[in-house]
Amino acid sequence: MTPAFEFDGQRVEAREGQTIAGALIASGRAAWRTAAGAERGVFCGIGVCQDCVVTVNGAAGVRACLRSACDGDVVTPEER
Ligand code: FES
Repeated sequence: MTPAFEFDGQRVEAREGQTIAGALIASGRAAWRTAAGAERGVFCGIGVCQDCVVTVNGAAGVRACLRSACDGDVVTPEER
């Protein structure tokens, strides 16, 4: 089964084991939040910079570059 999650109200499919960031990039999204008016997505890709943070199932501050995409997740963008 292909894992799929909801991002900002839209269905995003992921590969098994793929991170949320990987799935968002594969779906054509280069950025998914703003900080001080600037778009942010993946910068470091290793969990250090926090540019990629999203809210997952109500938990804020989740690093999308580290968190595996799970079927049924509800992911929302953050603004910091
Ligand atoms: S891209 Fe830097 S923490 Fe995720």
